[in-house]
Amino acid sequence: AAVHAQTAKPQVVLLATGGTIAGAGASATNSATYQAAKVPVDKLIAGVPELSAVAQVRGEQVFQIASESFTNEHLLTLGKRVAALARQADVDGIVITHGTDTLEETAYFLNLTVRTDKPIVVVGSMRPSTALSADGTLNLLNAVTTAADKSSRGKGVLVVMNDEIHNGRDVTKSINIRTEAFKSPWGPLGMVVEGKTYWFRAPAKRHTMNSEFDIEQINALPQVDIAYGSGNASDTAYRAFAAKGAKAIVHAGTGNGSVAGPVVPALRELRAQGLQIVRSARVVGGGFVLRNAEQPDDQYDWVVAHDLNPQKARILTLVALAKGADSKTLQRVFMEY
Ligand code: DGL
Repeated sequence: AAVHAQTAKPQVVLLATGGTIAGAGASATNSATYQAAKVPVDKLIAGVPELSAVAQVRGEQVFQIASESFTNEHLLTLGKRVAALARQADVDGIVITHGTDTLEETAYFLNLTVRTDKPIVVVGSMRPSTALSADGTLNLLNAVTTAADKSSRGKGVLVVMNDEIHNGRDVTKSINIRTEAFKSPWGPLGMVVEGKTYWFRAPAKRHTMNSEFDIEQINALPQVDIAYGSGNASDTAYRAFAAKGAKAIVHAGTGNGSVAGPVVPALRELRAQGLQIVRSARVVGGGFVLRNAEQPDDQYDWVVAHDLNPQKARILTLVALAKGADSKTLQRVFMEY
């Protein structure tokens, strides 16, 4: 009888960076009080035997940190490792386990800078593995399922959490105490249910293969800071960031990215000193900042973040400045990515 070639399982590499998905609490009732970044990558894989039915998974421990402590260096190191693996013929997909606090920043950074159409899936969990109703194991199975699925190719960097597949650009951590933590203002791209992916939308913005940015060409990222707008605002933070060498400041403005009267002169001075000024919005349900609404951006030569929240605006700004963007180029990329 013809020997049916064993259809080779997809080969997925799991890059572990830490976070709650690798967390451990003192007891099963500790769903919020625990230590992140404890469980090593091989134990994460061993903890979900069902993975072996989906793909051949091999792990690498890139970092073991809580993600609030990610630095620009961590982004560069991780991005370069992902790009190198994506170039390998024996890698069909990549999964990154990550703390949820800055997961959305890493996902967007990779979406902008890794030139591949292979699936890259970032995943985390809201409860540690030791907790009752821990969400990490199913999130990890769903992430590997998505990374192993050819239909995930070419959709940019994906974030899989709570059965949903989100676009790395849009998704943000909107709730910090529930498993339904991650939301995309324009909705998820799809779902993973019982080992199958279901797609309903595709990304509309430039990413990965269609990006002008390339992690292989980036060896340093500039300092870009975020200052939060509120009542009784002062210009102290902006001036302090500039004094410490920030190359750009993202203003997390009230409403439509508004800037309080006492802050405007400082931003104009800092722009004149060469810093880029980006107006974003602190609103959580989804901002939408347009040029010359609320502030005369053309006259001040400021940039608007459009629908990107402050932390996403920081990522796009530092990637664009790493490639020498001036304010005109910076505004273009905010409309295209
Ligand atoms: N310290 C947070 C982090 O590593 C824990 C949150 C989590 O991973 O869910 O992002």
